[in-house]
Amino acid sequence: MKKIILTGDRPTGRLHLGHYVGSLMNRVKIQNSGDYDEMYIMIADAQALTDNALHPEKIRDSIIEVALDYLSVGLDPKKVTIFIQSQVSALTELTFFYSNLVTVSRLQRNPTVKNEIKLRNFEANIPVGFFTYPISQAADITAFKASVIPVGEDQLPMIEQTREIVRSFNRTYSEVLVEPTAVLPDTKAALRLPGIDGNAKMSKSLGNCIYLSDDTETVKKKVMSMYTDPNHIKIEDPGDTKNNPVFIYLETLCTKEDFQNFLPEYQNLEELKAHYEKGGLGDVKIKKFLFEVIERVLKPIRERRKYYEERLDEVYEILRIGSEKASSAANETLKEVKESMKINYFENEELLEYYKQKYQRDSSN
Ligand code: TRP
Repeated sequence: MKKIILTGDRPTGRLHLGHYVGSLMNRVKIQNSGDYDEMYIMIADAQALTDNALHPEKIRDSIIEVALDYLSVGLDPKKVTIFIQSQVSALTELTFFYSNLVTVSRLQRNPTVKNEIKLRNFEANIPVGFFTYPISQAADITAFKASVIPVGEDQLPMIEQTREIVRSFNRTYSEVLVEPTAVLPDTKAALRLPGIDGNAKMSKSLGNCIYLSDDTETVKKKVMSMYTDPNHIKIEDPGDTKNNPVFIYLETLCTKEDFQNFLPEYQNLEELKAHYEKGGLGDVKIKKFLFEVIERVLKPIRERRKYYEERLDEVYEILRIGSEKASSAANETLKEVKESMKINYFENEELLEYYKQKYQRDSSN
């Protein structure tokens, strides 16, 4: 079986360091490993509209932001297919057919949707499209026969629901769809980067993100204002490194070379942590180091971003070609799905023969 990988993001704003550590970095790694047959990366604008129906301009503006973010982290359109969900119309048809295989109570049990409904105060007024987006996500995944879905933890219920739809479809009609497997980021710290304010999650609405497109000055300001250990007041005080965002960021981002280049008094993070925990190490020093590490990560990203910002025609063309390619692949699956459901009326010559015989027989008796 072919190894087909699919991931996606809702375009609701610029992507940040949390996205980078939690998924983008891993996508680039997979891309460069070459260990796949096809890799699709979807800008999920239709899904973003399920809870932003009144603000299409926000989604529209974010399409290009997210595309620039993808290209600037090093995703390469020669190796991966970047496309826009709403331009692949087969996805909506698949969603419509799959929705017959899912019950309302099953959707109500989806923990991610439950949580999102609460967050958006949707309790009394859930848009139907939002409520059913897990079904559309199953269409996204199965349309490409994707078997590997690198996602964050919060997406596990979506993959589980997709697997159920696949099994139900294959059982009811015939074996057409592929059951996907979720792949989580490998380090524990990378699962979720906290906000610079110490909040468990980096989130645009909380205003606690470092964006991939932030300039040096902004990054410096943000890092130097980061929440650390509130009990580490004097330099001599012992400090906590476990719930300390500065150390969590370092854990996921810094390398041995970073110590050689920016903080040669220490060999590695273990030594730095031990000193902080013992006491006698100030926050400013670690923050300065973290700033250097983040800059080392962001510099090449900024350079590529600048290149593409000056060539938006090229970015547009990448999206157009990607969407066309995705459309052909999804149409292929849709064709098989209709065939399997026996609603391929005009491609099925046997069907007309069957009708003819039926009516001949009926009129003869
Ligand atoms: N739900 C995902 C998110 O919020 C975006 C998404 C849409 C997706 N369709 C997908 C992710 C298919 C993986 C596979 O980030």
